[in-house]
Amino acid sequence: MIVGVPKEIKQDEYRVALIPAGIEEMLKHGHTVLVEKGAGLGSSIPDEEYKRAGAILVDTFKEIYNQAQFVMKVKEPLPDEYPFLKEGQIVFTFFHFAASQKLTDTVIKSKIVAIAYETIRDEYGQHPILTPMSEIAGRMSIQEGAKCLENPTHGRGILLGGVPGVAPAEVVIIGGGVVGANAAKVAAGFGARVSILDINVNRLRYLDDIMPKNVVTLMSNTQNIRGKAAAADVLIGAVLIEGARAPCVVTKEMVQTMKPGAVIIDVAIDQGGCVETSKPTTHSKPTYREYDVVHYCVTNIPGAVACTSTHALANVTLPYAIAIADKGYERAARENPAILKGINIVKGMIANKAVANVFGLPYSAFG
Ligand SMILES: NC(=O)c1ccc[n+]([C@@H]2O[C@H](COP(=O)([O-])OP(=O)(O)OC[C@H]3O[C@@H](n4cnc5c(N)ncnc54)[C@H](O)[C@@H]3O)[C@@H](O)[C@H]2O)c1
Repeated sequence: MIVGVPKEIKQDEYRVALIPAGIEEMLKHGHTVLVEKGAGLGSSIPDEEYKRAGAILVDTFKEIYNQAQFVMKVKEPLPDEYPFLKEGQIVFTFFHFAASQKLTDTVIKSKIVAIAYETIRDEYGQHPILTPMSEIAGRMSIQEGAKCLENPTHGRGILLGGVPGVAPAEVVIIGGGVVGANAAKVAAGFGARVSILDINVNRLRYLDDIMPKNVVTLMSNTQNIRGKAAAADVLIGAVLIEGARAPCVVTKEMVQTMKPGAVIIDVAIDQGGCVETSKPTTHSKPTYREYDVVHYCVTNIPGAVACTSTHALANVTLPYAIAIADKGYERAARENPAILKGINIVKGMIANKAVANVFGLPYSAFG
């Protein structure tokens, strides 16, 4: 197959979908790989390294979309890329369809095969491609939250870990999955008082076993969220219902009860956000204030630590990418249920029930 890797054009996105080691593997399997010039620069991978690995460098993303049968990206295609999506072309990337009807409609019309990183799920029920990005976003959410708590960024002026004689910050994490657990680990390491809320009691049981003593677990329900939101210095939104729009667990009324200068980091913003007052932001302008609460809602948090993120992402996407390139998406999906779960839209038809439900569109299972 001809595999194409365009440079990401989303604002402040520095990751790239394939690293030179991946190019070498693709070539070993008999594929040709086109890489847009400069695609790896944000991740400190110069064009020469791609060339040495055997990639063919091209000048524009248009050439990639025109020639490639299989396009590998990091983030969803953007409006500048829409006109170049070709019928039958496989596009393998994070799509997060539930957050955008425009993208969903465009992909349906384009008749591409959209395989979404975020809905690939393995035999253990894990999301192997989302996981490393969630690990990074979870860890970074505390790094960013600590910064937002400072006075110059309109925070409460609280040091996350406090000092002897002065209490540490109260960190409230809603959703105790990969993002939540990683956020808790880092916040606890700083010495903050941490609460994790989840609807899955087995997950809470596990977290209770592995987390240090300054982390407590709580069942996620409206009453507990209301109480914890009012007490929080930093509130992390980290819920996920696969494929669906994130549930709104923190209402506007709850935000109004938060302390002035408290901070919300809504990591779930890529799925629409789990706080009613959240709206997407970028790394260049990551925060805004509403009801005197600092909101940080960056949709591509790992994009800011691209060296780490690119390698972490490329490590986990490559085996799936090689299977798809070697066998074609139909056989790859037949032989590997994880890939089947990644297929969201095929040639004009939505194949992911949660995505169809979000927009009230028809659904047809693939395979
Ligand atoms: N903004 C970014 O750059 C970025 C990066 C990575 C992940 N994310 C997003 O972060 C979110 C979390 O991802 P994850 O990998 O941790 O998912 P995960 O599946 O590992 O964890 C989600 C958790 O949310 C819990 N949950 C569901 N509904 C809940 C509710 N009402 N109250 C409390 N908990 C609830 C689930 O039980 C689960 O434990 C997703 O939306 C993901 O797309 C965003």
